[in-house]
Amino acid sequence: MTRARMVGLGRGVPRKVLTNVDLEQMVDTTDQWITERTGIKERHIASDGEVTSDLAAAAGRMACENAGIKPEELDAIILGTVTPDMQMPATAAFVQQKLGASRCPAFDISAACAGFTFGLGLADGLIQRGGYRRILVIGVELLSRVLDWTDRNTCVLFGDAAGAAVLVPEEGDRGLLDVELHTDGSYTRDLTIPGGGSVRPASHESVDEKQHVVHMNGRQIFTQAVRNMSAASLSVLERCGYTADDVTTVFAHQANMRIVEGVSQRIKIPLDRFFINIQRYGNTSSASIPIAMSEAVEEGRVHEGDLLLLTALGAGVSWGSALVRW
Ligand code: ACO
Repeated sequence: MTRARMVGLGRGVPRKVLTNVDLEQMVDTTDQWITERTGIKERHIASDGEVTSDLAAAAGRMACENAGIKPEELDAIILGTVTPDMQMPATAAFVQQKLGASRCPAFDISAACAGFTFGLGLADGLIQRGGYRRILVIGVELLSRVLDWTDRNTCVLFGDAAGAAVLVPEEGDRGLLDVELHTDGSYTRDLTIPGGGSVRPASHESVDEKQHVVHMNGRQIFTQAVRNMSAASLSVLERCGYTADDVTTVFAHQANMRIVEGVSQRIKIPLDRFFINIQRYGNTSSASIPIAMSEAVEEGRVHEGDLLLLTALGAGVSWGSALVRW
């Protein structure tokens, strides 16, 4: 059987670090509150002039190098983001150019924090269809540009970064075993950047009314994340004929440590089998899973034959889980 297998991972992380102590100077918050409620200690923030496609290209370049392929050999670039370089064209087109990739299809998908998981599902479909042999999937977010830095409810949560993976077809048991994807449009209002689209085109008023920054109902998103990431994870395990005991490592979207703990309890996989790096990155949205995987592989914490569970939820709400035999 042909499977899509990740053969190279990469990450692109801005140098600048913003700590909780730095944030104490900016909004009415404390290191203690942020640490206890989220698990975050610091996050990386892009410098002036550093843009989404720069981070994405850095991650893509590293993923190609680790996969042992040249960017010009790519057959497709799929990029998940809600913070594109601009409305049009796709950020993936800028990335293609920055990488010096071929004229392969390069397009963006919008599934927020679930963007990488949705990208994996698409890449799997293209590989199963045949004709696509080297696909770069990128999750990238530069949320610092769309945060209200006076709103302590949101600005302490996020960080900027990119993560990427190269997928190739492979015969046998290794690779993506299954991906399950969902969206429930009844929660569109609970996490949104309302301005700049057809509903609320950009205007002086829309800027004054802060329509171009992240608006979030944190508690609703929290509940949705724990419930749906857990359900999709159990479902994908069951469909593949595995149980929680079979899973070697879980790469759960690093949104909030308490969300990760909630998922751990529901799916009955102890926390020591979750890869955690939220304390250093904050919530990097679609980048969080590939960054975590890239670090885990580099640290020698993933071995051939391991069963890996990936799970994420983001605005939409959209969520998904994937099972990988490494
Ligand atoms: N510092 C200090 N106090 C704060 C801060 C802050 N940074 N932010 C909020 N508070 C205050 C609130 O104003 C509130 O005060 P009040 O009781 O006087 O009104 C109090 O802390 C408690 O607020 P809650 O909203 O009840 O805090 P909660 O424990 O729910 O945590 C949080 C809030 C961290 C946002 C949580 O709901 C959460 O993580 N939700 C998920 C959101 C998320 O991860 N979004 C990212 C995108 S989606 C995704 O990745 C899954």
